Amino acid sequence: MDMCLNNKVALITGGSRGIGKAVALTLAKQGAKIVFCGRTKHDLDATADFLRKKGAETWAFQADMSKVRDIENLVEHVVARVGGINILVNNAVTSESAPFDQLTDDMFRYHIDVKLMAYIRIARLVLPHMRKTKSGRIVNIGGMTARVVAPLRISNGVVNAGIANFTKQFATFAAQYNITVNCVHPGYTLTERVKQIFVRQAEESGDKLDNIIRKRTKEVPLGKLMKPEDIASAVLFFCSPLAGMITGQSLAVDGGSGNAIAY
Ligand SMILES: NC(=O)c1ccc[n+]([C@@H]2O[C@H](COP(=O)([O-])OP(=O)(O)OC[C@H]3O[C@@H](n4cnc5c(N)ncnc54)[C@H](OP(=O)(O)O)[C@@H]3O)[C@@H](O)[C@H]2O)c1
Repeated sequence: MDMCLNNKVALITGGSRGIGKAVALTLAKQGAKIVFCGRTKHDLDATADFLRKKGAETWAFQADMSKVRDIENLVEHVVARVGGINILVNNAVTSESAPFDQLTDDMFRYHIDVKLMAYIRIARLVLPHMRKTKSGRIVNIGGMTARVVAPLRISNGVVNAGIANFTKQFATFAAQYNITVNCVHPGYTLTERVKQIFVRQAEESGDKLDNIIRKRTKEVPLGKLMKPEDIASAVLFFCSPLAGMITGQSLAVDGGSGNAIAY
């Protein structure tokens, strides 16, 4: 099915690995031009090569989303070199798990800066460029901790709940420019980062890694952990004409896990 993304410019933050990389490939397959960022040059180069081999037109920029100047440079460079931004997928994050009494102000502040504030800052900078074309799609990657309790990931919960809230508030403002803003909440999705979390959980509990993965899988009613491509499909939907009248929404891609009923 044609998703009408041919030659659209999609900027993906944190596109060098995991969910961001899957989003890049999924949008590229629909003909979008892919611009992505990350901090690690080696990973940026490897992913750019990978995408080009798949036929994508792509640009990789080194940028740290926790730094205001890097975000400004990123948007300036993309507009100067690629010519505009039609789609923004906010995705980059690094975070630490810890019980509440070990979560320092610095850990909280960094998490808020690198994800929630970075999403807000880049949206503000991209807005004038989307406004020029009177169209645009913004998809914020949140996380199920916005809706369910996760004792070792309290800062994730605070950040992801903030992202869901920002999505709705900003969507209401951006609608006048025909820009939609939506959020995707992934459940446990098998990326390198999550594999490392499972390894840590195995070490801490003394259980085997296989058992940890089996337990996490059993928590999912559909019986499988998510793949990055599952999250990318939801992003593609929000970027496509199929979602033309959908804005301000948060969609869980979690295989039915979690007991929260979100209205
Ligand atoms: N995987 C899951 O189960 C899961 C569950 C809930 C929510 N999520 C959300 O999904 C998104 C992607 O997660 P993921 O599992 O795919 O993560 P990942 O595999 O660790 O990939 C993260 C990407 O972000 C980049 N990145 C990290 N810190 C950055 C920074 N300061 N500035 C710029 N880029 C940065 C990384 O590259 P560099 O390290 O080179 O910078 C990498 O490209 C995140 O928002 C996460 O909270 C994921």
